[in-house]
Amino acid sequence: MNLYYSNINSIVWYLKYVGLPLTLCFSIHCLISRVSNKKRRSALQKKVVVITGASSGIGEALAHSFYAQGSTVVLAARRRTELDRVKKELMSRKMPIQVPEPVVLELDLSNLDSMDSFVKKIYDSCGHIDILINNGGVSHRASILNTEIKVYKQIMDVNYFGSVALTKAALPKMVERKSGHIVFISSVQGLIAIPNRSAYAASKHAIQAFGDSLRAEMHQHNINVTVISPGYVKTAVSLNALTGSGSFHGVMDSETAAGFTSEYAAEKFLDMIVNKENERVLSQLMPHIAIYLRQCFPSLYFQIMAKRATSKTN
Ligand SMILES: NC(=O)c1ccc[n+]([C@@H]2O[C@H](COP(=O)([O-])OP(=O)(O)OC[C@H]3O[C@@H](n4cnc5c(N)ncnc54)[C@H](OP(=O)(O)O)[C@@H]3O)[C@@H](O)[C@H]2O)c1
Ligand SMILES: *[C@@H]1O[C@H](CO)[C@@H](O)[C@H](O)[C@H]1NC(C)=O
Ligand SMILES: *[C@@H]1O[C@H](CO)[C@@H](O)[C@H](O)[C@H]1NC(C)=O
Repeated sequence: MNLYYSNINSIVWYLKYVGLPLTLCFSIHCLISRVSNKKRRSALQKKVVVITGASSGIGEALAHSFYAQGSTVVLAARRRTELDRVKKELMSRKMPIQVPEPVVLELDLSNLDSMDSFVKKIYDSCGHIDILINNGGVSHRASILNTEIKVYKQIMDVNYFGSVALTKAALPKMVERKSGHIVFISSVQGLIAIPNRSAYAASKHAIQAFGDSLRAEMHQHNINVTVISPGYVKTAVSLNALTGSGSFHGVMDSETAAGFTSEYAAEKFLDMIVNKENERVLSQLMPHIAIYLRQCFPSLYFQIMAKRATSKTN
């Protein structure tokens, strides 16, 4: 009986002197970071923000998030009509402040020779680039045995070489101004690799490494580098993914359909960018666990993936 009461008493004691202060501290921390995020967000007004892959999904949502902060957004992708649609939707938003008109520019990331003229067009209309968001990309759905080498090259061109070439074209002026910010939308697949995504995972691992080297080299020039690794986000990514022969996969994966909304993801990314975070994973629990297993228990991870290669179809 006494033991029972003393247990209850100690639970009450813990709640009062440990639980309550912890909850309070956490709430205060959340409040402070909300307020400081809001303050930092206001610095985005009139900043020139270039977003590749702005015609759809995450890029389109990022355009809305930055536009809502008053940034001059430059919308880049291949499909002009979709970019014009996004621009129209942005301009139809009721804004409390005056926001510069979005700039629409066609860009094919696999056309590596077009980057200097693309960047020059931005300088002609906006003067400079404050934030470059390398978001445009394409995924992969096929086994290695079934994937033609041309598909490996194509995915690498868009996801890796395209972002590298564009970043290189934008860097000299950023270095000269001693100001700028390069962002890469990588993926959880930049940290782990799963079956039937070999080309995609390899391209994202490559961009992850490039980002780390770039961050080190740009520190002296006052340029920040942010690498963001999302888990599942509900976009057309699996529909647009390439099969082994290079055709469109055309299937909405169930995991993608159940993913974060692109609006939610974009708002989170915006905070990571204003806070100049070096890197961040934004994902559901399972990919977090997978990253942990790959790091700490690789043999277990390899077993699970071998099973996945034979048991799931996507
Ligand atoms: N959705 C997810 O679950 C998820 C998870 C992790 C990472 N990501 C990454 O997030 C980024 C955005 O993907 P999303 O999910 O928003 O998919 P999405 O809806 O398919 O959008 C992909 C965007 O990339 C552009 N793009 C594709 N090929 C291009 C090329 N050759 N040149 C220029 N732009 C090109 C597309 O525009 P055009 O077709 O008009 O050129 C489109 O705007 C990608 O890098 C993707 O790898 C997505
Ligand atoms: C951003 O870059 C500057 C200059 O390289 C560096 O001093 C600063 O620590 C970086 N910001 C963050 C949050 O890492
Ligand atoms: C992998 O892709 C192949 C086609 O290349 C398909 O037949 C197979 O079912 C897929 N496997 C998984 C695990 O998704």
